[in-house]
Amino acid sequence: MRILVSGSTGFLGTSLIDTLERESHAIVRLVRPESVQRKANTTRAQAVRWDPVAGQFDATAAERADALVHLAGASISGGRWSVSRKNLLRTSRIEATRHLIGALSRLRYPPRVIVASSGIGYYGDRGEEILTEESSSGGDFLSALCREWEAETARGAEFGARVVMLRFGIVLAAHGGALPLMALPFKLGAGGRLGSGRQWMSWLTIGEAVGMIRFALANPGLAGPANAVTPNPVRNADFTRILAKTLHRPALFPVPAFALRLALGEMADALLLPSQRVMPSKLEQTGYQFIQPDLAMAIAEVFRKQA
Ligand SMILES: NC(=O)c1ccc[n+]([C@@H]2O[C@H](COP(=O)([O-])OP(=O)(O)OC[C@H]3O[C@@H](n4cnc5c(N)ncnc54)[C@H](OP(=O)(O)O)[C@@H]3O)[C@@H](O)[C@H]2O)c1
Repeated sequence: MRILVSGSTGFLGTSLIDTLERESHAIVRLVRPESVQRKANTTRAQAVRWDPVAGQFDATAAERADALVHLAGASISGGRWSVSRKNLLRTSRIEATRHLIGALSRLRYPPRVIVASSGIGYYGDRGEEILTEESSSGGDFLSALCREWEAETARGAEFGARVVMLRFGIVLAAHGGALPLMALPFKLGAGGRLGSGRQWMSWLTIGEAVGMIRFALANPGLAGPANAVTPNPVRNADFTRILAKTLHRPALFPVPAFALRLALGEMADALLLPSQRVMPSKLEQTGYQFIQPDLAMAIAEVFRKQA
């Protein structure tokens, strides 16, 4: 396949492109003026110039691609959520997606498949509720952001594309995402559960995330939002215990919710303290085979690869 990839220099994009290139797909990276070029030089990928701020897009180079994998967006955990940061989180997803889908709709031969990222932040903080793709969205900043972002992505259907929005859970890897930050206090001997520890965490490994993107690209039966998590969410206290055991460190120092809110502001309630017990119902119904659904084995694998 010839596959356009936005956000290709990021955590998910880098792993995805490594895998797709090994499978001999032709990758066409969407390159923003700010994109880091280093990675581009090490891959065989072609490039399409894309400037979501100025509204520019190199249409000729994007013609006749089979698919788009759309992963771009300013990092959700990249800084305290000030008014300007929130604005960037929104524009880099909602407006950038509007611009990208609009540009693709004007191609003579637009991609027939769009696989785009969203997040389980869509659901907000839901306690013990079991969440499927049928569940309602939440009422906080991140929920609204995901709703509007998905609505812009879904417009790809207007030019006939099959559109899949993968609502990613917490993606675990040694080299990026949340796990290295979560592991740091444990490595210093000062780890512990977050808040009450009763909140549900829905997770997947980076290999699983890549597997789900590949499945979504190839499986015509999958369309619309799909929860990209394993079927085994765990409470934060259990996640903490497994992490501590794998690292051979104690988990003696719970971090109270107020301290997290003091340090991180609104991000603490949106990213570390919400309870999100999410099930991958659509992926299961369409026959996705999980690669690593066991958390203890997943964390052990991640740290073994790092060693
Ligand atoms: N990692 C997770 O656990 C997780 C969980 C849920 C949802 N997600 C979502 O999945 C997507 C990919 O995640 P990731 O972990 O790979 O993120 P990431 O490492 O932060 O990469 C995102 C990429 O987006 C592009 N980007 C950065 N700033 C941008 C801006 N202002 N406007 C447009 N594009 C910008 C960059 O790529 P280029 O420079 O190549 O354009 C960047 O490398 C994100 O939208 C993220 O919110 C991730």
